[in-house]
Amino acid sequence: MVTHRIALIPGDGIGHEVTPAARQVLDTVGARHGVRFEYDEFDWCCARYHETGAMMPADALSRIRHHDAVFLGAVGDPSVPDHVSLWGLLIPIRRGFRQYVNLRPVKVFEGLPSPVRGARSGEVDLVVVRENVEGEYGEIGGRLHRGFPEEMAVQEAVFTRVGVTRIAEYAFTLAENRRGVLTSATKSNGIVHTMPFWDEVVTEVAASHPDVSWRAEHIDALAAKLVLDPARFDVIVGSNLFGDILSDLTAAVAGGIGIAPSANLNPEREFPSMFEPVHGSAPDIAGRGVANPLGAIWTAALMLDHLGHAEAAAEIEHAIAATLAQTSIRTPDLGGTATTAEFTKTLLELR
Ligand code: NAD
Ligand code: IPM
Ligand code: MN
Repeated sequence: MVTHRIALIPGDGIGHEVTPAARQVLDTVGARHGVRFEYDEFDWCCARYHETGAMMPADALSRIRHHDAVFLGAVGDPSVPDHVSLWGLLIPIRRGFRQYVNLRPVKVFEGLPSPVRGARSGEVDLVVVRENVEGEYGEIGGRLHRGFPEEMAVQEAVFTRVGVTRIAEYAFTLAENRRGVLTSATKSNGIVHTMPFWDEVVTEVAASHPDVSWRAEHIDALAAKLVLDPARFDVIVGSNLFGDILSDLTAAVAGGIGIAPSANLNPEREFPSMFEPVHGSAPDIAGRGVANPLGAIWTAALMLDHLGHAEAAAEIEHAIAATLAQTSIRTPDLGGTATTAEFTKTLLELR
């Protein structure tokens, strides 16, 4: 029996509904594969911010530094400005733990029709590789001259050679182990200064991956192509903001953002990686027990895989596919009436 220590941060809103579902799946499937989880739960969230003035304690990172992984539900509540909650919790963990890869796989599953005509299961199977610690989410800038006619908001996008090289390396290597096709999301048609640099570095990295067939696509046209012909894509590498937008778009192509998983990876394993669904805290449905747990459950599979349990991870992915293919049980976001708990129970009965 192997034991892994997980730092569990349910966060806000439906984070409290999808995290228990993921945990139940991890415990059940883990037990079948000789893997046990010990969870340390942290109450870092917007309610804590109201009580203490901080989303998490000052020494938060050192408290979870030695866990094998972090599992996060979602962060954000209408009572706290998003820039406060996110810069107070999610972003410091991604950056502090050098989780510079954000992996966001997408599949069209049998039994869950895509809203996109012609996007069939087995054909749409792609992964967005999002740069996760720099780019447009730069820390330089702010609001100036508040209350004056000259008021302005400024933010510097920061792209470093190291940062672009390592995300491109990761994406090209991943493509080599998949279908060997890579798309780089860009906007280098002369307007955005950072993007010709992105292209240059990606081109350099591509030279050492001759087996990958790749091209750069402008983000605007790419968004359209992803809707018109999603099956064409395999690995898509993009900057922080482009990757963020593309991953909600591709999740929607596969049926909805409630199903999409993500892994914030520190590939060198100097620090724990963090696993969280792509979606947010969904305040509009929180507290009703009807959140779709699929994104969080698939995220649990990504975590198992990262921890070296590929078979257990595959069993979860198989259970997800089987539930969608063999049953009509769905949460309301996918047109059904099932609760989070009912969906999770059914999924655990199928394998
Ligand atoms: P959101 O993902 O929370 O919700 C968008 C829409 O999708 C809503 O209608 C919601 O009900 C629906 N939805 C999302 N996940 C679902 C699920 N699992 N099941 C069923 N329906 C689901 O995005 P938003 O509305 O832009 O943001 C809400 C809050 O979440 C904000 O505070 C935002 O900053 C935060 N947020 C956090 C994260 C994160 O923690 N990683 C990610 C995105 C947004
Ligand atoms: C995501 C989210 C976050 C991001 C927000 C909440 C800061 O949208 O994880 O996709 O943009 O990274
Ligand atoms: Mn997002």
